Amino acid sequence: MSPRTRQGGAMPKMKITAPDIAAAKGQRKLVVITAYDAGQAAIAEAAGADILLVGDSLGMVVLGYEDTVSVTMEQMLHHAGAVARGARRALVLADMPFLSYQADRNSAVTNAGRMLKEARAQAVKVEGGREIVPQIRAIVQAGIPVMGHLGLTPQHVAALGGYKVQARTAQAAAMLLEDAQALADAGCFAMVLECVPSPVAELVTRSVPIPTIGIGAGPDCDGQVLVFHDLLGLYGDFKPKFVKRYADLGGMAKDALGRFAEDVRSGTFPAKENSFDMAPDELDKLLGDTQAS
Ligand code: KIV
Repeated sequence: MSPRTRQGGAMPKMKITAPDIAAAKGQRKLVVITAYDAGQAAIAEAAGADILLVGDSLGMVVLGYEDTVSVTMEQMLHHAGAVARGARRALVLADMPFLSYQADRNSAVTNAGRMLKEARAQAVKVEGGREIVPQIRAIVQAGIPVMGHLGLTPQHVAALGGYKVQARTAQAAAMLLEDAQALADAGCFAMVLECVPSPVAELVTRSVPIPTIGIGAGPDCDGQVLVFHDLLGLYGDFKPKFVKRYADLGGMAKDALGRFAEDVRSGTFPAKENSFDMAPDELDKLLGDTQAS
């Protein structure tokens, strides 16, 4: 018989930790799915995600911004808290939003600490290479696991001049490799590689001792991440090349909601089975009372 919790439910399997993720390198492929609320967390975890990434992509897919730049600490804390409450086994990883760690080590540690203390995330993710190593070291020294993020770093969209594949030249790829080594040396337990040529991701993956999690980085990374809404067809019609859509839930939802609208307009909803009745004697009393008055 499986162990039970005090509430009588089945005990969750042991929570996945940052050291478990680091130790998975070379052992098994890691599955990372973004989630922004408790319901999505439960679905992604039940589907087998090792990590639930509360990405700052929530700025686009949930909050309607055109990029991630405007996302605030308060918004990240709000959504990371919901994901942490919905997750039982998967590691909950919260993105540090733009300008919550770039300025200095103190604010980086304070803001990363809030993700653990207030939202109950287990780790944080930061975008950048050698230029943010002092902040990464300080966060790690405070006892907070850090995942790095290299390649296309969406928080730098203004400086990059758009969402473009990175490290396409030998020189840029060599710099990316140096950044990856610096992140590993600084104590990151894993790193995302976003939109880089597959051979570059393969080289980085072979060269660093921590897992690489790819998105638009080919098949040789130690794991893969996709955005929940992109996987399920819930975010507009544009599909980047690196996304594989596994369902068209957006289309299904439009169809279902359209049928609801039709039923309301035609009076077919609510039907008798969706409505509440009243005991006949109470109804007689009510009608008698209203007729008498
Ligand atoms: O914000 C996000 O969802 C991300 C992933 C795409 C890696 O950073």
